Amino acid sequence: MPMTPFATTLSDYIKAGYPAIAVTTHEEERLLRDLQTLRDIGWSFASWSAVRGWRDPEGKAIQGTTAGATAPTAVLEIQKLQKRTVAVFFDLQAHFITEPDTVRAIRDALEIAKSSFRPMLLCSPYSILPLELEKDVALLDYALPTSAQLRDLIPELLKSIKQAAARAAGTQRPYPTELEDGVIEAMINAARGLTWNEAESAFSLAMMTAQPGSMPAVIQREKTSLVRKQGLLELIEPRVTLDAVGGLDPLKEWLLEQGALIKYAAEALAWGFVPEDLPKGALLTGLPGTGKSLIARAAAATWGLPLLRLDMSRILGSLVGQSETRMRDALRLAEAMAPCVLHVDEIEKALAGAGTDTSGVSTRIMGQLLTWLQERGVGPDGLPSPVYVIATANNPDSLPAPLLRPGRFDGRWFVDLPQSFERRLVAQIHLAKRRQSVVPADVDELVEQTADYSPAEIEQVIKTGCAAAFRERRGLGAKDLFDAVKRVMPLSKSRKEDLEKMREEARRTGALFANAPEMGFGASRRLLDIG
Ligand SMILES: Nc1ncnc2c1ncn2[C@@H]1O[C@H](COP(=O)(O)OP(=O)(O)OP(=O)(O)O)[C@@H](O)[C@H]1O
Ligand SMILES: [Mg+2]
Repeated sequence: MPMTPFATTLSDYIKAGYPAIAVTTHEEERLLRDLQTLRDIGWSFASWSAVRGWRDPEGKAIQGTTAGATAPTAVLEIQKLQKRTVAVFFDLQAHFITEPDTVRAIRDALEIAKSSFRPMLLCSPYSILPLELEKDVALLDYALPTSAQLRDLIPELLKSIKQAAARAAGTQRPYPTELEDGVIEAMINAARGLTWNEAESAFSLAMMTAQPGSMPAVIQREKTSLVRKQGLLELIEPRVTLDAVGGLDPLKEWLLEQGALIKYAAEALAWGFVPEDLPKGALLTGLPGTGKSLIARAAAATWGLPLLRLDMSRILGSLVGQSETRMRDALRLAEAMAPCVLHVDEIEKALAGAGTDTSGVSTRIMGQLLTWLQERGVGPDGLPSPVYVIATANNPDSLPAPLLRPGRFDGRWFVDLPQSFERRLVAQIHLAKRRQSVVPADVDELVEQTADYSPAEIEQVIKTGCAAAFRERRGLGAKDLFDAVKRVMPLSKSRKEDLEKMREEARRTGALFANAPEMGFGASRRLLDIG
């Protein structure tokens, strides 16, 4: 078998004399399969796990090594391996804390590894290395399977299904023995972004349970359930469209333009756009309740794309390296779900400490996110995987400067409190939603009274008014609304200074204003403000 792309890269490192290389992946089996292909250049491998000890490629214990040895001993035992053997360690990183000598043992073994051609390959789902090793251990990326690799899976699976069916002849429904090219193509497309094992399971499930025409849909459904299982992303099926958002016309119009390229990405690329041209996303800042999350949901629904919500607080883990791993897994899964909208909610939460925290976790997570924001759009095959990011934040002040640089987002928007005509639209939407109406003059009065209210607070006023009316089992009246206004305290009152600062910050950094300037007095005041 010719060397796989990973084996080829690895062989370059080995030939260059790297004594230790770390690979971050969950896919141990596939990694070992890759290493099998090193035979081409006359290399072999041995693998160690704390449970199994040292094994050769056939899985047999290696003579002269100690079963049940401690991690430091196991590391030094690379001397007992044949020359020109890659020494693979599974989850050795897990021992760094419980057996601190492990790190020392690796450093001692570097010389042996280098001089006698037994490089160490540290394989674990965590990407983190202790300071002592950072200079000596190279980090290597383990890419997801390419379309070609996924394609290779299908004949193998069809064959094993056929064999299984033959063994249980007569009792089973007929399983497919071959598939049309079009179906295979669609299945591979649906499986993009999955790991080898995930793809294998999804393919088998599809082949065993569905007619060829609906196999790609089964794979798609499996991806959805992976998102649920992983628990880092929340899959939201948005129902409201941009029509349910009152006001914010400049932002809505802009989003509609972005949507045309996101939704029809494949067509746009066929037309001549390059992957880098595809829209990347928007950053929305503004006070709570101004509709930032609503916009994210509505944009996804309007474009007919799934919405994934990335909750920064779920990313932060307590174990070393855990946060980085979670972030990477979450982003990988988002790419697998493309085309989709990724809502990074309260982005400032995880990033606030970046650059200042001592453990460096926020800094690294931010680095990961920034790199991804910069590079995403192109999947493992160089094909685009359009993930449109809508990041929202309350406090733009705490956002690190690199996040605001051009190239990260297509647009940075500041969502202000609604203008009076926007408040009217918001009120109308929420009255209609509850099948209530009041005469236009009363709506005008409500708009007047809610001058500093956010849309969420206006909704709260209407809900409170409706509750009062319902208690007496009658329709909503103007008085219910006006009474409710007195009971709902707008946040902007207590955060007046914050709000001013946010406006100032938005102007200073050249953010776009999501609210349309109002006609008349308001408009001129606003224009002067901006001027
Ligand atoms: N422009 C709007 N038009 C109609 N309803 C709105 C609008 N903005 C907000 N709302 C209502 O207020 C609710 C809360 O708004 P949303 O969660 O989007 O605010 P947010 O800006 O994300 O706040 P936070 O910063 O606290 O996350 C929405 O679910 C919606 O019902
Ligand atoms: Mg929100």
